[in-house]
Amino acid sequence: MEKKWWQTSVVYQIYPRSFQDSNGDGIGDLRGIINRLDYLQTLGIDVIWLSPVYKSPNDDNGYDISDYQDIMDEFGTMEDMDELIAKANEKQIKIVMDLVVNHTSDEHKWFVEAKKGKENPYRDYYIWRDPVEGDVPNALKSTFSGSAWEYDEASGQYFLHLFSKRQPDLNWENKKVQQEVWDMMNFWLEKGVGGFRMDVIDLVGKVPDQEITGNGPKLHEYLQEMHQKTFGNYDVLTVGETWGATPEIAKLYSNPERKELSMVFQFEHIGLDQQEGKEKWDLKQLDLGELKKILAKWQTSLGNEGWNSLFWNNHDLPRIVSRWGNDQKYRNESAKMFAILLHLMKGTPYIYQGEEIGMTNCPISDISEVNDIESINMYNERLEEGYSKEEIIESINAKGRDNARTPIQWDNTVNAGFTTGTPWLHINPNYPDINVKNNLEDPNSIFRCYQKLIQLRKNNPIVVWGEFALIENAPEEIFAYRRTYEGENWVVIANFSDKERTISLPEYGESQDIIINNYQRESVQFDNIYLKPYETFAAKA
Ligand code: NOJ
Repeated sequence: MEKKWWQTSVVYQIYPRSFQDSNGDGIGDLRGIINRLDYLQTLGIDVIWLSPVYKSPNDDNGYDISDYQDIMDEFGTMEDMDELIAKANEKQIKIVMDLVVNHTSDEHKWFVEAKKGKENPYRDYYIWRDPVEGDVPNALKSTFSGSAWEYDEASGQYFLHLFSKRQPDLNWENKKVQQEVWDMMNFWLEKGVGGFRMDVIDLVGKVPDQEITGNGPKLHEYLQEMHQKTFGNYDVLTVGETWGATPEIAKLYSNPERKELSMVFQFEHIGLDQQEGKEKWDLKQLDLGELKKILAKWQTSLGNEGWNSLFWNNHDLPRIVSRWGNDQKYRNESAKMFAILLHLMKGTPYIYQGEEIGMTNCPISDISEVNDIESINMYNERLEEGYSKEEIIESINAKGRDNARTPIQWDNTVNAGFTTGTPWLHINPNYPDINVKNNLEDPNSIFRCYQKLIQLRKNNPIVVWGEFALIENAPEEIFAYRRTYEGENWVVIANFSDKERTISLPEYGESQDIIINNYQRESVQFDNIYLKPYETFAAKA
């Protein structure tokens, strides 16, 4: 496989609404990001994945786009965007845009036109069906609760929306829609962006009449054409959001010979704390054995036919330290455990804003505190189905997307230094303790651990290119693996529990060479390793 710059890179995801406000309106903006580029450079990242900054009525916080070639008023102007791209590039940081083309906003001019009637030239940009026996065309469900079909009184037809009813699905069967998307992508490529993160891209090949949504028959045909008509002539990073991907499916997207994408986000491990066959809100304890098995499978099965993306967090997921770690007594230790485990695996790591300082979930006690449409719709649906408020709030506190969307905690001043106005979403009350300023001042902070991991990647080819092998005979609660490259061996060992644990790996002898750790440790006797709660280290072996 030809070596690519994005294989040695670390990506940092910015959710602009919550990153940094610069004008006191309580909403993060592009100027805020520009002002914080030095911070990101200090961290050492190479790429920013920018969640959507386009014009949007914010039914789904920017994932409902009303103009792909303009900037959301609250975030700034196209001049600000050009400046962000230029200033980031000066620091060798590339900007990856969020490409949301499964659907638009209902305020997009295409949909406004399409709604005017069956004869409108834009009608076929969307997916319209007649009622069936006076009801919805079929049983397709929206990810945000309820039917995926919304009735349009004026024309007597339904339109499809796999997300909110204000996010109508585009009709990818229509060549004109494809051409519009290619033109828009080229507009951004010409501006010098570093690539695209492709929102729910596995859905664009849907066949609604057969109730096929993910992995439709024409999906890869579309992506090959996209490659050819847009980014194929640029050296950029492309990453698809693909919820249903198995390693075999991932290879279809990311085998370089197929000329589709650089890599995909796979979510197999993300479902491990939800009940089988149910929704993400139906909670269950994480099965650590399964987690190890799944991550190891992904590490070893792509080979030369693909490349992994590595992540614990994003703007749709709860904070990992609260989810599978310990956000109280062992916050520091467990946050570093997740960092070390992930960043020393093979693939391109993605850091979600605030992860690098160990930000935590932010529990609420009443639905009035929630902003996210997904949680609000689920709350109403489940109340009707007879769930108690307490049960629903418990699910929201465990899995709700607002957990990851509370503003970045920069310092211990009012509103955590995020805004001088009223923040659009509550700030986590733990900000006097958990903030960027404290992290920068402490040589042992979580931030410093991330910074060191990024440097390790830059200075050690084994981190990028080394083979991965799970250490199979480790006790249940210990996640251990080995990387190997040109005769060199690194062993990574993590105690994934709040109890002391021991492990014996006599085949590795003794090492005085500790690469990174989250407790003080100078050496390791591999035949008799005693691990403190969440203790994690990497050693040369
Ligand atoms: C996935 C995005 O990550 C999520 O935030 C959004 O709500 C849906 N796609 C719809 O665009």
